[in-house]
Amino acid sequence: MITTSDLRKVYPAQGREIAALDGVDLHVRQGEVYGVVGTSGAGKSTLIRCVNLLERPTSGSVSVDGRELTALSPAELRETRRSIGMVFQHFNLLARRTVAENVELPLEITGLSRRQRAAKARELLDLVGLADKAKAYPAQLSGGQKQRVGIARALAGDPKVLLSDEATSALDPETTRSILQLLRDLNRQLGLTVLLITHEMDVIKSVCDSAALMRGGRVVESGTLHELLERPGSELARELFPLGEGEPLQGSTLLDITFQGEATAQPFISQLARTYNVDVSIIGAAVETLGGRQVGRLRVSLPGSFDENVVPIGYLREQGLQVEVAA
Ligand SMILES: Nc1ncnc2c1ncn2[C@@H]1O[C@H](COP(=O)(O)OP(=O)(O)OP(=O)(O)O)[C@@H](O)[C@H]1O
Ligand SMILES: [Mg+2]
Repeated sequence: MITTSDLRKVYPAQGREIAALDGVDLHVRQGEVYGVVGTSGAGKSTLIRCVNLLERPTSGSVSVDGRELTALSPAELRETRRSIGMVFQHFNLLARRTVAENVELPLEITGLSRRQRAAKARELLDLVGLADKAKAYPAQLSGGQKQRVGIARALAGDPKVLLSDEATSALDPETTRSILQLLRDLNRQLGLTVLLITHEMDVIKSVCDSAALMRGGRVVESGTLHELLERPGSELARELFPLGEGEPLQGSTLLDITFQGEATAQPFISQLARTYNVDVSIIGAAVETLGGRQVGRLRVSLPGSFDENVVPIGYLREQGLQVEVAA
């Protein structure tokens, strides 16, 4: 649905150049919620602004819904942009307009009649749970309500894609959850593809199907959450399911075990202990449900060196568990 190829964006900065994007290949599939995380300055906002061409990439290409945006004429681009909704961190509502008028704003250039626009705004406000606030002004709304208006406005052009840059970072945790739930519902109800930027791992965990980690203008890791969990050494998986900094016991082997799906039902720890007569110490654990499927990570310590534990480790791997030797 969204593909960027070797996307670069270079900003001039006092005699030198900053490569905000340094060759980004991103692939967001139709109908998924895709999250991009990364530290401040990693290039996340630049990426999302390049996806709807609010920012012109220095080189590389962007295609959305099969259309190569970088190749469109200005008129074609305006038209195509309507199928891409954008939600902002600070809502960007017009203070002198009512809630309904804010939602109607993007429709004013489309040739719809006033009545059609009003009907569309009512429908969208209903969809985001704000039907009773149509005549209120932004200043009379809570942060969460303002963001709902922002989302309704982003949906005015019946977009296929919704882009969101830190849409919840100005909100408290409870409101954040309800906005994320709304994005998830819209994704399911409308088949909307969502690309969202966040710096919170919890956001990724609660609504995303896939994620990418950015650093220094590059995507250093990406995949579905389940793929990431299965990938040995995945930095994102480690951050999604932190196991803490459990210190290895002297003369022992530390293992990080990742399990999901059917493996979660197996009593593999007690089987391991019984079969090989080893004492297993649990150092850290995290078990959660991702997209309706249980996944977990476990850090355990086995007495003895790695060489002495080759057989038990092989046994765990045979059980369909992913095992990494941490120390
Ligand atoms: N208009 C601009 N002119 C010059 N440099 C810019 C411009 N916009 C962004 N940059 C630089 O590009 C890099 C990436 O910025 P960007 O805003 O994409 O980061 P980010 O990942 O969104 O960070 P944050 O989490 O703080 O929002 C930074 O080094 C930033 O200083
Ligand atoms: Mg940003």
